[in-house]
Amino acid sequence: MLILTIETSCDETAAAVVRDGRLVLSSVISSQVATHAEYGGVVPEIASRKHLEMITPVVRQALDEAGVMLAEIEGIAVTRGPGLLGALLVGVSMAKSLALACRIPLVGVHHIEGHLLAGFLEQPVLFPFLALVVSGGHTHLYRVDGIGRYRILGRTIDDAVGEAYDKTATLLGLGYPGGALIDKLAQQGSPTAVKFPRPLLHDKTLNFSFSGLKTAVLTHLKKQSHTPEGAELHDLCASFQAAVCEVLVKKTEAALKQEGLQRLVVGGGVACNSGLRHAMQQLATRLKIELQIPPPVLCGDNAAMLAVAGDAYLTAGCLDDLAMDAIATWPLDQVARWEQLP
Ligand code: KG4
Ligand code: ZN
Repeated sequence: MLILTIETSCDETAAAVVRDGRLVLSSVISSQVATHAEYGGVVPEIASRKHLEMITPVVRQALDEAGVMLAEIEGIAVTRGPGLLGALLVGVSMAKSLALACRIPLVGVHHIEGHLLAGFLEQPVLFPFLALVVSGGHTHLYRVDGIGRYRILGRTIDDAVGEAYDKTATLLGLGYPGGALIDKLAQQGSPTAVKFPRPLLHDKTLNFSFSGLKTAVLTHLKKQSHTPEGAELHDLCASFQAAVCEVLVKKTEAALKQEGLQRLVVGGGVACNSGLRHAMQQLATRLKIELQIPPPVLCGDNAAMLAVAGDAYLTAGCLDDLAMDAIATWPLDQVARWEQLP
């Protein structure tokens, strides 16, 4: 099946053409990062307007680069939620318009379902597996028993890890979004220079908490009489990253043991992080488990990642109709499409 996928949940307007849920013929991502940077974060109203401006050229470019005509598209998968409602509506409206005008079957896909199955575009992983999704809006551990079969094991009780990175970067005067910048600076610093807290490390749940870590950075900065730069800034970034990675690794290990799972998938924008990738690799080697972390281009927001679940649903006839709405808040374990799958 040849499908068109559309993603507009936050600040990337993206479209892709994918064959059989596997072969990516094109993947176009138009980022709004530069627009939002001057406000220090994503401004929802501006995001919606930018999506509106870019959605048609991005879809057209995805079709052109794939060398296919709209008439050849056999299904459309679109991010239905969660995300910014106004932003989601642009993608959902585009998908519904194309579905109506060209009589193409349509399905709405959960954004996180896209992230945790993104690596399947390169190499499918056998079910069941543990998925850690780390992004600007999510820090969740899921047990995945199949496409459409997800159970939340743990989640952040306050900030998502990407949010903590971005807020910390703002405190350090690095600009927005600062996750990748902190990562870069951390590579030249000492992870033991500043002893930051490891929130919820020893509690019995699989939940996370990152807002205190950001506050710890603020408290540290207030104690200093100057803005950190050079080696001091590198050390701060490395110490922050070490605290984040230690918590993510320990909770992931606890979840693997609790569920008796042998396979681990890490996805979402923060899965681009070099420290996290290295720490998870070490964990996988130590526990002798299979690890999949997609290449960075598939970790951040993109439309191709929707094709894995989208293709499975469309092929099985699990369709949405033109009454499909966008859902801003949508827990993944409420997707429950698996009952309709063969
Ligand atoms: O998945 P994503 O592209 O969008 C959401 O669904 O949120 O994730 C974006 C998040 C941002 O918070 C960004 O700062 C973070 O991923 N990020 C990183 C790195 N690259 C992106 N955080 C830490 N290290 C990185 N290398
Ligand atoms: Zn995302």
